[in-house]
Amino acid sequence: MRPQKLKARIFLDSGDPEETKVINTFLGFLDGQTTNPTLISKNPEARLRLERGEKFSAEAILQFYRGVVVELCGLVPGGSVSVEVYADVTTQADTMLNQAKDMFSWIANAHVKFPTTREGLKAAQWAVEAGMRVNMTLCFSQEQAAAVYAATRGAKKGQVFVSPFVGRLDDRGENGMDVIANILRMYAQGDGHVEVLTASVRSIEHLLYALKLGTDIITAPFEVLKAWGDKGMPIPGDTYQYNAGSLKPIPYKEIKLDNKWEDYDIRHELTTKGMERFSEDWKRLLKPEKRKIA
Ligand code: E4P
Repeated sequence: MRPQKLKARIFLDSGDPEETKVINTFLGFLDGQTTNPTLISKNPEARLRLERGEKFSAEAILQFYRGVVVELCGLVPGGSVSVEVYADVTTQADTMLNQAKDMFSWIANAHVKFPTTREGLKAAQWAVEAGMRVNMTLCFSQEQAAAVYAATRGAKKGQVFVSPFVGRLDDRGENGMDVIANILRMYAQGDGHVEVLTASVRSIEHLLYALKLGTDIITAPFEVLKAWGDKGMPIPGDTYQYNAGSLKPIPYKEIKLDNKWEDYDIRHELTTKGMERFSEDWKRLLKPEKRKIA
C-alpha cells in the first residue's frame, strides 16, 4: 500500500516487465516506469537473443521496444512510462522529433525522453508545442534544468519532466544530490510546469533524501525499491540527515529562469558520455548495417 505521507510519485527504472510485476505486488503500488536504451539491452529476452547470436534489424528492435512498453503500460495503468529516442552526438532535432511522434503513439501514457542537449531541447520544444509529454534526460546541472524550463514554457503541469542523474555525479566524486536540491530551489521561483524526476538512484539514501527535498518523482532500480519496501517504505522526517561522505559539494548558483533556452550554457561532459553509452548499448543489439550497392 502507498504510504499515506508519501507525496512523490515512485517509478521503477527498468526495461524488464517481470521486475515491474514483482515490485508492484511487493510495494502494493507503482506510479510509473522509466526505460532507456541500456535498460532495454538488459531485458532478459533481448539478452537471450543476443546470446543466441540473433541480433535485431533496425525495424525489429523498435517493434521489440514497443512490445515492452505496451506491456509496461498495462502493468502501471494510468502511470507514466518513459520511452527514449535514439540519439548520438550527431542526431539532429528533426530526427529525434520523428522518433518521438512514433513512440508517443505506442501507448496512452508515454513521456518521450530526449537528451538535454541543444538538439534535444529543440526537439522537446517542438514536441511540447505539438502536445506531447517529454522527459529531459541526462541532466547534470542547474543550467541544463533552467534551459529545460525555458524551452518548455507554456507546457501543462505533468507534461514535462527533467531527470537529473544523481549516481553518475557521485561516481566521479561530486555530490549528485546537491543538483536535485539546487534545481528544486531554482524552480521554486518558477511556475511549476517542470517536474523534477530524481534519476540514476543507486541507494535507499538517495531515495530518502530525494523525498525529504520534495522531489516530484523518483525513479529507482528494482534493488533500491525492494530495499525500501523491506524497511517498510519509510518516509524521512524533519530530522533526517543525508550523509554525502567525501563527495564534493556542488554549490547553488543564482540563475534566472526568464532567459531564452539558447542563452544557458548547457554543456556537460557526462551528457555527452551518457549519449555515447546509450548509443553503444543500442547498437550492440543491432545487426551490422548492410552496405548499399549502387
Ligand atoms: C532514468 O530515467 C535513467 O535513465 C536512469 O536512472 C539512469 O541510471 P544509471 O545512471 O544507473 O544508468
